[in-house]
Amino acid sequence: MPKRTLDDLLSNGALTEGQRALTRVDFNVPLEGGADGSEPRVADDLRLRAALPTVERITQTGAKAILMSHLGRPGGERDASLSLRPVAERFEELLGRPVHFCEETVGEKAEAVIEQLTGGGVVLLENTRFAPGEKANSDAFAEALAALGDVFVGDAFGAVHRAHASTVGAARAMQLDDGRPAAMGRLVERELKALGRLVEEPASPFVAVLGGAKVSDKLGVIERLLGVADRLLIGGAMSYTFMRAQGRNVGDSLVEDDRVGDAERLLADAGDPLLLPEDHVAASGLDDEAEHQPVEGALPNGQMGVDIGPATAERYGEAIRRAQTVAWNGPMGVVEQERFAGGTRAVAQAVADATDDGAYTVAGGGDSAAALSQMGFADDISHLSTGGGAMLQFLEGEALPGVEVLSDR
Ligand code: 3PG
Repeated sequence: MPKRTLDDLLSNGALTEGQRALTRVDFNVPLEGGADGSEPRVADDLRLRAALPTVERITQTGAKAILMSHLGRPGGERDASLSLRPVAERFEELLGRPVHFCEETVGEKAEAVIEQLTGGGVVLLENTRFAPGEKANSDAFAEALAALGDVFVGDAFGAVHRAHASTVGAARAMQLDDGRPAAMGRLVERELKALGRLVEEPASPFVAVLGGAKVSDKLGVIERLLGVADRLLIGGAMSYTFMRAQGRNVGDSLVEDDRVGDAERLLADAGDPLLLPEDHVAASGLDDEAEHQPVEGALPNGQMGVDIGPATAERYGEAIRRAQTVAWNGPMGVVEQERFAGGTRAVAQAVADATDDGAYTVAGGGDSAAALSQMGFADDISHLSTGGGAMLQFLEGEALPGVEVLSDR
């Protein structure tokens, strides 16, 4: 059943001047600084920029935008290093109008700040995950959030796979209580359309690239993609679980021992379309002094794989440049360290080249999307998804609770 959109709310008069649009955004962005006593700053603002169309549309109507988000995983307790305050400051710069920050997420203080907002005003509430009721999706916390809005706007694509109070509970409470509608924001609408193109008759050759640390996060998506993609290129630390499944030595590389059996089964089912790295960047550790060099084939003891090697980068690049459709999720190596980001950069360049040649390309995955944006590739890919786990869950064909909960059209 198609879901209601923000534009539906505006055209049928459900959101008008002065009303409160309780809007779930995903402002879970990387921060830098802070630990050394300096003020924490947003290290990558891709997710903030992605939220602008929805917030601008709400404020143009003269409605109040009440923004809520999680940041990190504070475990239901207040943690000053995970305050959304620096995020509010960066969002204010991007939006070009005042963004108030409220140190509370719910309750009298939040209600008072919202009450004082003029039409078209914007407030960002403190980290929803400071409250234990957020992840537990408790009725009490969901209702406290619901009390802050006249309509609900779900625009946190990166968190639509989480059934938490701010993504699902509040939207449900608002609809159940007195029929206050819940609609999808423009980012969620754009993401669903862009990702939908990957699974609905993708042009062939379709090349999927999967990286990141864990096979366990990607089992479902690998199985699903094997049915639709012509090639599946594997990188990142999860390669080593596959190599172990092949009985090869992986040295000190990260391996999910309890997933070796799954990797073995996938290798047997997949056959030729699944490619593993043929060489690696191997390092004696992750500290600054650790030595590193390219290694072919198996990894020696005392060495860990930290990136795909140059031959693999070239081979993957060729496959990607020949593709008509590319889906990519997860980095090829320890991308946080520039010396181990070469494989990810080479894949990004190949995806950019394929896009230039007319291929439809989508890349995503929390940290890897941030890395691509920082490397300057954000505009060279057909769609840079703000979703990590959400993108995978969509591609697996699993329901997304933060979308399911929205009002039908
Ligand atoms: C993400 O970064 O993938 C989303 O913001 C979800 O965060 P989470 O994995 O901590 O729920």
